[in-house]
Order: sequence, then C-alpha cells, then structure tokens
Amino acid sequence: MLKLNGMPIDSIETPDYIKKLPSIYSILFPEGYEILPNTTELFELEFAFYEQSIISKEEIIKRGAFFKSVDGKLTNHYIICSNNSPLIWEGRSEITQAYFKEGNFSTGYASHGLFPYRGKFHPQLIKGILNVLKLQPGDVVLDPMCGSGTLNVEASTIGINSIGVEKSPFCVLMSRVKYESLKVSNTTLSDIINNQNKSYKILIKNKRLPKEFEFTNIFDPEKTITLLAFFDAMGYARRCAKSIDVLFPKVIKRYVAQITSFVEARDKLSLKIAKARFELGDAKSLPIDNDSIDGIITSPPYSFAIDYAENDRPQLEYLDYDITSLKDGMVGLKGKARKEKLDNYFEDMDKVLSEMARVLKIGKYAVIIIGSNDIQTGGIRLEKKIAEIAINHSFVLDQKIIKPIKGIQNTMKDEYILFFRKEGS
Ligand SMILES: C[S@@+](CC[C@H](N)C(=O)[O-])C[C@H]1O[C@@H](n2cnc3c(N)ncnc32)[C@H](O)[C@@H]1O
Repeated sequence: MLKLNGMPIDSIETPDYIKKLPSIYSILFPEGYEILPNTTELFELEFAFYEQSIISKEEIIKRGAFFKSVDGKLTNHYIICSNNSPLIWEGRSEITQAYFKEGNFSTGYASHGLFPYRGKFHPQLIKGILNVLKLQPGDVVLDPMCGSGTLNVEASTIGINSIGVEKSPFCVLMSRVKYESLKVSNTTLSDIINNQNKSYKILIKNKRLPKEFEFTNIFDPEKTITLLAFFDAMGYARRCAKSIDVLFPKVIKRYVAQITSFVEARDKLSLKIAKARFELGDAKSLPIDNDSIDGIITSPPYSFAIDYAENDRPQLEYLDYDITSLKDGMVGLKGKARKEKLDNYFEDMDKVLSEMARVLKIGKYAVIIIGSNDIQTGGIRLEKKIAEIAINHSFVLDQKIIKPIKGIQNTMKDEYILFFRKEGS
C-alpha cells in the first residue's frame, strides 16, 4: 500500500482548492472535444486550440490533426493512425520501436514512414497548418521545396490539391511514390510482395537505373514503390554496415505493411485522394502561373545545416544524375567560407520569396518553417532574416509559433512557424 507521512495514500483528503483547479484541457476546449493521446507540447496545444476555434466539429472529425473524438465520434486522423500495423516496427531495435510508437499520431501514419528523409516536416503539424489556413477541397497548395512530399501527402488525404517542386530528382521520385502509394490497390500490394525477388535481382545487378524501372512517362506504382524500398535499403546498409541483401526484404515488407494500413483506413472511411503534381524545378524560378496558388507551406534548407545532395549521393548516382551540377542550383550549398555561403543563401532565399509572392493569390498565406543554428550562422537568426526578406516582397508577418526540436544531439533548439500574408488590393 502506498503511504505518505505514514498514512495510506487513499485515506488522504484532497484539499478543496486543489479539487477545484480546472485542467488545462477543460480551459482550452469545450465539452465533447477529446484530444489525442500524447498531445502535451505547447505548440500542439496551440494548434489544437486553433483547429477547434477555426473549423467546425464536422471538419475536425474529417480533417482535424489533434483530436481523438468530438462528441464521441472518432476522428479520421485517429482512425487512420490507430490502424497502423505492428509489422511497421517488427524486428527493429527497442529505441526505434519506441520512436515509432510515440510518433504514431504525429509522424508514423499514411505513407510518411516510407524512406526516412532528413529534415522532413512533422506531418501532423502540416495538417494543423492546412486547417488554420482554412484551405478547402478544390484549392491548390504549394511546397516549392517539397523534399519528400509531406505537404502533398497531407493535403491529398483531406481533399486539397497540391503541387510539389524540387531541385533533387531523387526527391521528386520519393514524393511521387509517397503520394501514389495513397491510391494503390490491394492487387498492387500483393504484386510487390510476389515479385520482390525478381525485382531485387534486376536492381542489384545494375549500377544504374535499369530500363525495366524507368518511370519518366508512365508511373507504375509497383515498380516505383519497389525502387524506393531498394533505395531505402541502400541508404540503410550504408548507415548500419549490414548487407543490402538482408535489409531489402525487411524494408519491402515494412513498406507494404505501412501502405496496407493506410489503404484499409482509406477504404473504410471512403477517403478520396486529391490530385498532386510534382515538378523537377527550381524554387528560384517556379514553373507556376502568377496569382494561382491558394496557400504555400514550405521549409527551406536551414542555411547549410544539411547537404541534401551529398546525403542522397548513392540514390542520385544510381539515377545517373551529376551531383556537382545539382549542387550549383540548390539553396544553401553554394560557396566555401561561411560568409560566402550565407551571402549566397540569403541571395537565393530572396529569389525564392519573390517567386512565392508572385505565384500566391493576394490575401493568401505562405507559411515558412525554419530553424536557426547560431553557431553555424555566426549569430545570425535565420527566422529574423527571412522575415526581413519576406517583408520586401509584399508579405506581412501575421503570426509566429515556436516549436521545440527534440533530441539531445540537436544543436538547434527551436523551429519557427512563420505565417506570412500576401498583401495587395
Ligand atoms: C528542409 S528540406 C524540405 C523537406 C520537406 N518539407 C519534407 O517534408 O520532406 C529542403 C529541401 O529543399 C530542396 N531544395 C534546395 N534547393 C532547392 C531549389 N533551388 N529548388 C527547389 N528545391 C530545393 C532540397 O533538396 C530539400 O529537399
């Protein structure tokens, strides 16, 4: 029996004033709203509060990112995430399993878990931002530096059309696979498993992308999902010094389990996946018409914190791309000394923001997520500098939310979510 000061704990009376203290949840949310498990961080509560204040109960059930249920009815987000198959984390280290379980409602659902792209968005947060921006089915949202396509996946599952532009051809492939995976049939998933040995033999035998796997015009989901799993196993083998022969079957099994979990939920909820288009292009000269976009959500490189081309070298080489010329066009990778790199970075970001202002409709929002590492930038705060540049391109900063970055190894402690509105008459 638990005791406190020698008294059984059950027999201790809670003083009245403590009984009367309201919980933070009851202050933030009216009765009937049940928040998702593990929603404890301040930025999550902020977004949950905004969702509840901005969109209707019906919309929270269909597209909310932070609630488990409203008036007893489970939300689609909860249903999609709780359908995750344990096969997704089977056979992985305890640390990885714990990471997956903790991220069940925030990162590990739909097709986000395919290929662990460094520097990717927090998917649940993106859904929350789409809700705060009140984007509606039929609207078009853009990520001009789409990386692994997180925005496109999130937008598609709640009926919003999207465009992803990326400089790296590997990222264009990855984004497209993550998006196309949302639409696959069970037959395609069985074919992936049935043909995995045959596919692997072709892929491993070649040093460059074999003809059978080319995807320029016709996008074959079976082949491209298999190819992404092969690339994932290739990167994994490089990191953990295990043989790709051993890793590939595990990765492909996990991919199929992950996609199956989503497909089951998709069919149960009769979700319609909206359209998404991906372009190999440059955020400094977007292949998009003036005043045509209803919202932008993006996260540019945080100056030169990550060398995205070097990171994906094995995959880019397999796809037969020249990494040196790719680096020339990528934001954050030009120059040698710190000052030169930073000058080039801000010059490029000026062009990116000018393009974002050109394609966005007046009165609509561009949300930029950016972190700053003082040591790397010599004390310059990127979020401040980006806001200064944005203001020169007819943007007004309406809101700023801070999101802490977890992990003791990170020297960057916070990310800033900056809401810029395009001004004009
Ligand atoms: C922080 S990551 C974006 C991650 C993305 N939000 C996601 O969820 O996966 C920044 C991306 O910008 C891309 N990039 C860098 N320079 C670019 C340019 N000039 N045009 C388009 N994309 C670029 C990089 O390849 C990288 O994928």
